[in-house]
Amino acid sequence: MFSTHSLDFLLSPAGGEVLAWLATQDLSDAQTLPLLQRLRRELPPDVAGAALTMARLRQRAVAKFSRATAMFFTPDALEQATGEIVATWRARRFAEGGYAQIADLGCGIGGDTLALAALPGATVIGLDRDPLRLRLARANLNVYGRAAHLLCADLRDCLPLIGVPAAFFDPARREHERRLFSVRDYVPPLDVIRSWDFVALAVKLSPGVALDELRPYTEAGVGVEFVSAGGDLKEAVLWTGDLGFAGRWASRADAGETLHPTGAPPPPLSAPRAFLLEPDPAIIRAGLLGELAEHLGAPLYRLDEHIAYLTADTPVNSGWVRVWPVLDWLPFNLKRLREALRARSIRRATIKKRGSPLAPAEALRLLKLAGEGDDAVIVLTHVQGEHSALICGPPLTGPETGAGSSWTS
Ligand SMILES: C[S@@+](CC[C@H](N)C(=O)[O-])C[C@H]1O[C@@H](n2cnc3c(N)ncnc32)[C@H](O)[C@@H]1O
Repeated sequence: MFSTHSLDFLLSPAGGEVLAWLATQDLSDAQTLPLLQRLRRELPPDVAGAALTMARLRQRAVAKFSRATAMFFTPDALEQATGEIVATWRARRFAEGGYAQIADLGCGIGGDTLALAALPGATVIGLDRDPLRLRLARANLNVYGRAAHLLCADLRDCLPLIGVPAAFFDPARREHERRLFSVRDYVPPLDVIRSWDFVALAVKLSPGVALDELRPYTEAGVGVEFVSAGGDLKEAVLWTGDLGFAGRWASRADAGETLHPTGAPPPPLSAPRAFLLEPDPAIIRAGLLGELAEHLGAPLYRLDEHIAYLTADTPVNSGWVRVWPVLDWLPFNLKRLREALRARSIRRATIKKRGSPLAPAEALRLLKLAGEGDDAVIVLTHVQGEHSALICGPPLTGPETGAGSSWTS
């Protein structure tokens, strides 16, 4: 991505000045040409291009890092980097386990190295096969005033880590712009961990990882934690060895809360009641609906055996669920739904769906609604096996509502 001499410049004090100037400019696409023309007065064209790219990456990285505006990335490495909130949440388990030496395997530009290196008294060793990323990781550690040993090594070889008890492993889940869905295709593949003998090992996986693929590990007692932040599912983590546990956990990294499996039975089925509840996606992926009901201490019901929407007679105020008042519901029928919306003067709506084949945009079109809006939330889903539509009011609690959701049980 960046040539060595471009990077040499960007990491130098003169490069810092150029990046600081770029941070004060409008970096929108429309400004590319004027910005490059201005930069090329003093810099070779490739260095000018690299400076503009880095400045834009810093803007994008603000969503992940509190000091993004001083950090260094490549587009791919930023995409793959763990954001600060989730990395900090995960790192703290190593501290709780009392590990003084922790390896960060596949450390990239240091998203996780930064969080591990912040643990009091911890010595962190970051390994990656990409020397450029290691250079960026070093610079990023400096930005935060943190230290780690960084080594260029191939994780498929014998690890240069004698006596290091704990490790975090983050294999790449995309290659050449392509997402890699199977743990067998991760780079390196998940089963590389079979040759390692750490006392405690955590592995970051895609949040959508197929649980079947993990069976060889989970049947041997390895636990999986599903982690969300801001209502979005961020990752799955395999915890093995001394940090391991049985079953599946759900955590909200931003709230610092975890729900553990207790064996609570799933809530009974019911037709929609006064409120519709959507559990946090980590709960859904961990299959902890019964535990959620237990935790909230309120009678909850499932709408369907296979769909993770819940319903209740009273509203629930918890960061684990989003809640909508149910105004009406009916078996799905376009004409009847249109009439019901018209009767309530609903002209704009947000469409949510779980289990419905209808795309939200298509539903808006078929319902002849003026567009997306706040008048109502229409939920297309199954009620005890039957395709149904719930007409709901605006959300009462929980993170911001979005149209549609990616994870179904
Ligand atoms: C998902 S990224 C890690 C991101 C990092 N945890 C962060 O938050 O910035 C995976 C990393 O694994 C590295 N990698 C892939 N295959 C490797 C191998 N065989 N040996 C060493 N590193 C490897 C890649 O260079 C990449 O930086």
